[in-house]
Amino acid sequence: MKQTTDFYQMKERNEKITMITAYDYPSAKLAEQAGIDMILVGDSLGMVMLGYDSTIQVTLDDMIHHTKAVKRGAIDTFIVADLPFATYHSSREETVRNAAKLMQEGGAHAVKLEGAEDIILEHIEALKVAGIPVVAHIGLTPQSVAVIGGYKVQGKSVEAAQKLIEEAKKCEKAGAFAIVLECVPRQLAEEITKQLTIPVIGIGAGPNCDGQVLVYHDLLGYGVERLPKFVKQYVNIQEDIVSGIQAYINEVKTGVFPDEKTSYTMKDGVLESLYG
Ligand code: KIV
Ligand code: NA
Repeated sequence: MKQTTDFYQMKERNEKITMITAYDYPSAKLAEQAGIDMILVGDSLGMVMLGYDSTIQVTLDDMIHHTKAVKRGAIDTFIVADLPFATYHSSREETVRNAAKLMQEGGAHAVKLEGAEDIILEHIEALKVAGIPVVAHIGLTPQSVAVIGGYKVQGKSVEAAQKLIEEAKKCEKAGAFAIVLECVPRQLAEEITKQLTIPVIGIGAGPNCDGQVLVYHDLLGYGVERLPKFVKQYVNIQEDIVSGIQAYINEVKTGVFPDEKTSYTMKDGVLESLYG
């Protein structure tokens, strides 16, 4: 299993870091099987798994529940879990307690939190002191969508770009071991990646970051409709899923399934295994 130090080395070697979200046992198992470097139990699960319209509704208990399932599916992959909405803002104590739960109960190896305001930076430091590796997340920060006024590309003006560069440096200084950079112009992402020694994992941040993260359901076309420009959909499993379910419905309605082959029979004294 890769560890935080491996990710620094990958940056140094110019070897791209791959990350995908996963939220349950099968998605984690398949991500690990495919050879992903890092799994993110993102609070995007509120939208893609639970059908909410934002990440605001996701609770710490939701995150623990899903992280546990991911851990059972991916026993040999580095797992980062999101600290959800308003669980790392009140005090150092509460932040450390909540993050510790994601590690101790959920089984995460690290936590991710959004923003780079002074209080967040203080809390990144406190987490590090407690032995909790932290991934920072700046640019578009979905938990603040109600404050920033919608999902928009960040850092487009010179001033906004300068502010993001400063924020990234502050996160590194506070002790984050990696940083997610979401929805910023590619030139800005490249500049931030150059200026930091910690790995920059991009999403909607162009090709010159140290790594990339995408949402599982987005890249696989699983239960999603309108996708942002930055997503590349590699397959469209929802088509197979719907046609598979339609075939099943059809065969049951017409009596094609179950048939002889898929039924058990009464043979005296012979114990039949479930699997035939
Ligand atoms: O929750 C999530 O999926 C994320 C990624 C988009 C980085 O935070
Ligand atoms: Na998230």
